[in-house]
Parts: sequence; structure tokens; C-alpha cells
Amino acid sequence: MKLENVVPWGRTLKEYELMFKILEEDKEKRILGCGDGPASFNAELTQSGCYVVSIDPIYQFSKQQISRRIDEVRPIIMQQLTKNLDGYVWDVLGSPQALENTRMMAMNHFLADYEDGKNSQRYVSGSLPHLPFDDKEFDLALCSHFLFLYDEHLSELEHIQAIIELVRVSQEVRIYPLISLNGKPSSYLSGVVRHLESLGISVSLKSVEYEFQKGATQMLVVKAA
Ligand SMILES: C[S@@+](CC[C@H](N)C(=O)[O-])C[C@H]1O[C@@H](n2cnc3c(N)ncnc32)[C@H](O)[C@@H]1O
Repeated sequence: MKLENVVPWGRTLKEYELMFKILEEDKEKRILGCGDGPASFNAELTQSGCYVVSIDPIYQFSKQQISRRIDEVRPIIMQQLTKNLDGYVWDVLGSPQALENTRMMAMNHFLADYEDGKNSQRYVSGSLPHLPFDDKEFDLALCSHFLFLYDEHLSELEHIQAIIELVRVSQEVRIYPLISLNGKPSSYLSGVVRHLESLGISVSLKSVEYEFQKGATQMLVVKAA
């Protein structure tokens, strides 16, 4: 992975709770965040005493490198977002300026926690479809804004391999969103669901109370048979 190809952009614990319908009882579980990047999810959840590990290829880079890359991509992301304001629901995040503030707060929280989290193996460098974890090392794996969203960059087969790997390391997997960057439902969804079901893996769609990209109102819940 080259850092100049990475677009780090991170969400908060509150957003993860809404995207994945995380209940208090879920917080007792061993949680894996896959593709967490510079989200403050791990830092915030760890501070409240929970067990969470995040895995992402960007964790091969130093705090200074990630911080510099955030500063480079921030104006580009904001420019793209303001060109497509109608593609988003603004009633919770407010305005582009408020969104930028929330994202920067989350990413600064991540950066402040990063070196400590790396030393305690909470931030692990690695990539789907091969995760350096034992079978069922986790109870709940979450994958936010990676699978299905970037369906131009990953094939249907790569989605299937990624989800099979997630369900190998975790009892349950939740994935959000199920629409791609163009704002349309991912064209892989039905094929991926059919393939997983044919392997005896249980798959269901659940509505969530989070919608920023218009139409992104569901998560995929996957459980090993
Ligand atoms: C748009 S960011 C989402 C960050 C975070 N999950 C959130 O929602 O705020 C997508 C993340 O996926 C990570 N990623 C890219 N390829 C990956 C792979 N093969 N396996 C796991 N994560 C990957 C990127 O490094 C990036 O941090």
C-alpha cells in the first residue's frame, strides 16, 4: 500500500453505534474493527473499558505520516463533498463545516491514541482477505465504509473472500454501508449474499438509524453456520 493512494477519513464511536446498532450488551464482546483507519471508534471504546482491536493497512505508517496524509486529503474530500451536497442527509451532521469539524475531532482523537494503541496491539497492520487472527478470536467484527462502498476497486469475488475471512475470525460480522460511492446500491450485494448462503453462512439485512449517504439505511449481518 502506498500512502499517496490512501484517503484517511474517520468516524466516531457514536456513528459506529448507529451504523451497526451496537447495544450495551455488544460492548461486552471481543470486537474487531476491520478497516477502521483513523476512526476514533477504537480510542473511545477502549476508554470506556471495552475490548477492541482495529486492523487496517494504514497502521503500517507512523503517526506523523498518517497525520500529514490527513492534512493533504482533507481539502480534496471537502471539495468533492460540497459538489454533491444533495447526495447526503444533513439533519444530524448539520453542514459541511460541522461535518469537517466532527471528522477532524475523530481523527485527532485517533492520532492521540495511535502510538499507545499500536504498542498494546489495538491497532494492527493488515488487510483483507488475510487477517492475522485465530478462528473465532472475536465475537463481533465491524466493517465500516470499505466493503461494498469501494466496489469499483474490489471484485465480487474479493468481497466474498473478505467476508468469509471475517466470519472465520468472528462469530458475527456487520457491514455498512451497502451502497457504493456512486450513491447506488452495490451491484455485488445480491451475488455476495447468494454465494454466502450457498456455503451455509447466515446472512440478513437490517435497518439502521444512521443515514448520511442518501439511501444507506441498512447493514449486512453475517453469521457462521
Ligand atoms: C473510508 S475508510 C473508513 C474508515 C473507518 N472505517 C470509518 O468508517 O471511519 C476505509 C478504510 O479501509 C482501509 N482498507 C483499505 N484496504 C483494506 C483491506 N484490504 N483490508 C482492510 N482495510 C482496508 C483503508 O486503509 C481505510 O482506512
